[in-house]
Amino acid sequence: MNTRSRIAVLASGRGSNLQCLLDAIAGGQLDAEIVGVLSDKPAAAALGKVPPALRWARSPREFDNREAFDAALGDALAACRPDWVICAGYMRILGAAFVERFQGRLVNIHPSLLPLHKGLDTHARAIEAGDAEHGASVHFVVPELDAGNVIAQARVPVLAGDSAEQLARRVLAVEHPLLLATARLLVAGRVAEQGGIIQLDGQSLLSPLRLDSDGTLAG
Ligand code: GAR
Repeated sequence: MNTRSRIAVLASGRGSNLQCLLDAIAGGQLDAEIVGVLSDKPAAAALGKVPPALRWARSPREFDNREAFDAALGDALAACRPDWVICAGYMRILGAAFVERFQGRLVNIHPSLLPLHKGLDTHARAIEAGDAEHGASVHFVVPELDAGNVIAQARVPVLAGDSAEQLARRVLAVEHPLLLATARLLVAGRVAEQGGIIQLDGQSLLSPLRLDSDGTLAG
């Protein structure tokens, strides 16, 4: 019997985080299968990384309102029977009904050290704020934007004279190992959210795990 975890990915763009997961699965570093890639952008490059049978994409413009789009997305997602749903560059806000439908198995990678810099333009805002460090977070999704409990973070320095693009590249380089290391914990069944608190190996996780330079997560 195939017991590999079933991962569905929501993506709106380039798909480098999805590619990282696909490479890790192919290389035997992630015991999982990608069972669907779903997008609000029919032209998203991410979709091209999986066979057509695994793709679902509809433009929100085809729908009367957010609830109708979210319901169609949710039905397509449920049909994939995912154990985990990973938002990897999914740039559309998910409504509360959608989040509640998948809560507990819905995570997102966000390019900031949450709770700092929720929302868009995180790299420019970190520079603007004079932050010494910036990074990325993988968190459980809750209805409030980028507000769910953070499982793990990766940090990079903000260097003098950084442009937002330079900083984004530095962050993306740690996003990939961060997402992979976190996905490995998820598929191993080591992380769960209970009563609004993350449990790691049955113990409450009081602050996010940190990605080490060797790509492992530490408390
Ligand atoms: C990543 O930097 C991810 O953290 C960010 O979009 C990029 C997607 O890159 N996500 C968000 O900003 C979500 N609010 P990718 O398509 O190459 O994985």
